[in-house]
Amino acid sequence: MTVKTKVTDKILLTTDDKKKAAAEAAIDKYVQSGMKIGLGHGSTAHHFVRSLGKKFKGDKSLVCVPTSKATAEIAKEVGLNVSNLNENPYLDFTFDGTDEIDPDFRLIKGGGGALLYEKIVATSSKFVLIIADESKLVPKLGKFPLPVEVIPFGVRATAWKLERVFQANNMQPKMAVRGKDGKPFVTDAGNFIIDCECGEINDPGRLELMINNLVGVVHCGLFINVSGIALIGTTNGVEELRRG
Ligand code: 5RP
Repeated sequence: MTVKTKVTDKILLTTDDKKKAAAEAAIDKYVQSGMKIGLGHGSTAHHFVRSLGKKFKGDKSLVCVPTSKATAEIAKEVGLNVSNLNENPYLDFTFDGTDEIDPDFRLIKGGGGALLYEKIVATSSKFVLIIADESKLVPKLGKFPLPVEVIPFGVRATAWKLERVFQANNMQPKMAVRGKDGKPFVTDAGNFIIDCECGEINDPGRLELMINNLVGVVHCGLFINVSGIALIGTTNGVEELRRG
């Protein structure tokens, strides 16, 4: 069961306005001086970081742990107190975007290529708050290609094993190593990403376990039982969704 509450009711017309409004609502409602927070990656998370800078610039008591080099750069630029998980292994909150979110708060993440650090930071946080525009709400995960972060060594062998896992789940996704400028895209951790066009995923929990169990796979972009709260920017304002 999901509990839905209206947070703001300003009409929001563009996707970017919806992302920004969700990010600002998250700051107003949940961020206070003295907290230790994780900062996600992607356009919505970056709206969050820039708006956070406007409110908390120079506030040393708000400790911010970024999930990517790009997020760290923006956070420093806007005057936030940037730290890391080694100095602060337990966080109060992480604020991050998503590529998809289903009614059980299961997510596909990694469209921006930061899924591994996002998952490490998210699972080190008491609460993970998802900020997104309404296009990310889906009845079932799988329209967005599932990113799987893999070790570059033996990537074709890992892709072959991955294919077997999908077959065991009656799936035949189109799979491709993510590229950038004619070369494989390399994550901040030095790995590659295989994007898998799955179509509807019937059992995301089982699929996550099976994929993450493969040698050569670092982690996949399925986030199960990681978050139970989301702020969603819609045409009619920002709504909060909570797992009941
Ligand atoms: C990055 C992510 C992002 O949260 C996801 O891609 C959403 O991006 P955006 O906020 O730009 O729509 O998982 O790895």
